Amino acid sequence: MAEANKSTRTRDDFERLPRHVAIIMDGNGRWAKKHKLAVARGHRQGTETLREIIRHTDDLGIEALSVYAFSTENWNRSPEEVAALMQLILDFFASEIDELERKNVRILILGDKSRLPEKQRETIIEAERRTAGNTGLHLNIALNYGGRDELVRCARELAEMVKAGELQAEDINEQTISDHLYTRGQPDVDLLIRTSGEMRLSNFLLYQCAYAEFLFPEVLWPDFTVHDYDDALLAFGGRERRFGKRLS
Ligand code: IPE
Ligand code: IPE
Ligand code: MG
Repeated sequence: MAEANKSTRTRDDFERLPRHVAIIMDGNGRWAKKHKLAVARGHRQGTETLREIIRHTDDLGIEALSVYAFSTENWNRSPEEVAALMQLILDFFASEIDELERKNVRILILGDKSRLPEKQRETIIEAERRTAGNTGLHLNIALNYGGRDELVRCARELAEMVKAGELQAEDINEQTISDHLYTRGQPDVDLLIRTSGEMRLSNFLLYQCAYAEFLFPEVLWPDFTVHDYDDALLAFGGRERRFGKRLS
């Protein structure tokens, strides 16, 4: 099975790769249901997929990968499911951090860390700290993330700066906003993939996805393979991105 989930494709097999890929990893619950397993098993299987997708993204030399792991709305799930997801955060970093650090990956958590339990908060801050000096793949993990929440924070930050006289209101432009988002310094999202056939953003990277290409493969996240990922990347290469211009 491990072999089936290895890609032989390299950067040269793609005419054009996205600089920044965002993934809404959806379908863990349906996968568990389909296999008559507890929902926590679905989430655990999902982290196996995530590991392979991170590896392949890094091998392809893509600049940034943002994955949606837990939304500000996911607190509304049962306490058991939330606890299982919180445990997976600890397990994921415990098993992956050494390899990620060694591979020069920079980990950044997108979202409000303050609402996370202390152990999880310490773990992710430590992962960010250990990889802060790295220069390779930007791996953004969205935890307690909401796109609207991010924009509200940005507005507050800018308002405080204006109040303190550090910024003139008329100097605020699109770049100023980008520079005050969690993803500051990174390119906008070029390709957004949401698995499981759902076609919505669910509050993910609202500002950064302004001109992203969208792909909605039907496959459930735990079943998503590196081959499905390659297919998505190839499909992206075939998209005509116009950015409002008339090209012909
Ligand atoms: C996505 O899988 C993972 C999280 C939201 C944490 P879901 O748990 O939403 O899977 P479905 O949508 O119920 O199948
Ligand atoms: C979005 O998926 C959040 C994550 C994948 C972490 P959801 O499954 O929570 O989104 P909705 O509720 O179907 O829109
Ligand atoms: Mg879902």
